[in-house]
Amino acid sequence: MSPAKKSATIHPDLAEVLFTEGQIRTRVRSLAAEIKKVYGNREFTIVSLINGAVMFTADLMREIDNPIRLECIRVSSYGAGTTSYGTPQIIYSLTLDIMHRDVLLIDDILDTGKTLKLVSGLIRKLEPSSLRACVLLDKKARREVDVEADIVGFGIPDKFVVGYGLDFAERYRNLPCIGVLKPECQKPPA
Ligand code: IMP
Ligand code: MG
Repeated sequence: MSPAKKSATIHPDLAEVLFTEGQIRTRVRSLAAEIKKVYGNREFTIVSLINGAVMFTADLMREIDNPIRLECIRVSSYGAGTTSYGTPQIIYSLTLDIMHRDVLLIDDILDTGKTLKLVSGLIRKLEPSSLRACVLLDKKARREVDVEADIVGFGIPDKFVVGYGLDFAERYRNLPCIGVLKPECQKPPA
């Protein structure tokens, strides 16, 4: 498929594309520059919330030339639906030491804020020398708890989005763009 054809084609399950592959790439580069301004040339430790932040973390890391340590945490809050139910659960926790380290928490999207609040609380107990959070997307209108990210890629409206790591029932993570999932595709799989 030619590049022009590829960008003109929209996945049939998407109602609209919010950010194209190219727009994401450009924003990720500028976020990397913001992060570089914060840490200078110092080493820092990324704590990435998988699975959603996998693509974002991988692309962002490769735009930063600092020494970076990588750790992943797995938190579940959605299951096979489109709205959070109750308290997020930590499924897979930290093993790397982060005491007296500069820690940058990375997530795909800040929604109610419960996940970021839970994970930052857990990390703070481990006494890092600093803790910041970077999210690619921020759905500010849905916030339920008092938490904000230090570095934000794009603010988005209250719509359920997929692609570039974001899923619905573990699907669509591999889409290179970020788009709004059609309502008829938001039914839990049988
Ligand atoms: P929070 O705890 O409500 O802030 O939820 C954060 C998590 O919910 C994110 O890490 C995502 O995995 C997931 N999430 C929130 N909104 C969306 C969305 O629009 N699409 C896909 N996943 C989402
Ligand atoms: Mg997530």
